[in-house]
Amino acid sequence: MDKIRVRVPATSANLGSGFDCCGIALELYNVFEFEKISKGLELVNCEEEFANESNLSYQAYKAVCDKIGVDPSVKITIIDTGVPVSRGLGSSATLICAGAYAANKLHGCPLSKEEVFAICTELEGHPDNVAPALFGSFCVSVTDMHGNPYTVRTHVSKRIHFTAVIPDFEVQTHHAREVLPELVKREDAVYNMSRVALLASAFKSGDSQLLKIVTKDRLHQQYRRPLFRNIDEIEECAYECGAISFMISGAGSTCLCLSTKSMADKLNEKIKCLPNGWVARELEISKYGTKEVM
Ligand code: HSE
Repeated sequence: MDKIRVRVPATSANLGSGFDCCGIALELYNVFEFEKISKGLELVNCEEEFANESNLSYQAYKAVCDKIGVDPSVKITIIDTGVPVSRGLGSSATLICAGAYAANKLHGCPLSKEEVFAICTELEGHPDNVAPALFGSFCVSVTDMHGNPYTVRTHVSKRIHFTAVIPDFEVQTHHAREVLPELVKREDAVYNMSRVALLASAFKSGDSQLLKIVTKDRLHQQYRRPLFRNIDEIEECAYECGAISFMISGAGSTCLCLSTKSMADKLNEKIKCLPNGWVARELEISKYGTKEVM
């Protein structure tokens, strides 16, 4: 096999209490094609600024090739970009997972899924987006003292609807991390620990009363809210439209609502007059993660 097309879903990390360890895959996709070539790197349909060896899809492709000892020469074509950039929906994880998955597959799958996951985590710096981007559904991840990641994937109940509310402004992850305190109060740590321990089972059962409680957080969102224009109005409108939970998706700028019924149309009607182009989109859970497509 010399050529492969790979589809990777968007991901929403944290889900409130699961800061830096939980994430969910959503049906919004980036698609890339990788083709072995005799020499060098070609990047097609890529903005000039990113069309070089530091492109994350190439970095991941090369990391896998280096690990298995093969030549990393490749032509990478961006086929579809459904995942908005710097909006807290895991666009960098899509590049990394696509590159690593494609390199492994094009060379006969010498690496296990776990080894591919470890390479992706090292490149991304944390596993909360790459785990659901690779494996789909809801993933809780942990890294051991050597940085090796482990993840457990959970099925998500169909009773829960996910609505992403996406603005036209970007939030850079490093900026959204700079505003977080170095130390947290013990009561805030316990507040999140008790909730995140129940997060996977709440998503699995779809128990809306439990989800309402366990998606609350005291470790990151209150510090990040000042970075988000109109977040108070968006949250108020979301609850008026039936949201049971309202969260910052990853480091933002997208917000994520959970509900027991569809709410995107109603919410769009309410928020259309607000500045910053906020648009609500209901998204299904992506069950399969990174996948070869025709
Ligand atoms: N868990 C990360 C954060 C996600 O909240 O900063 C961003 O990639």
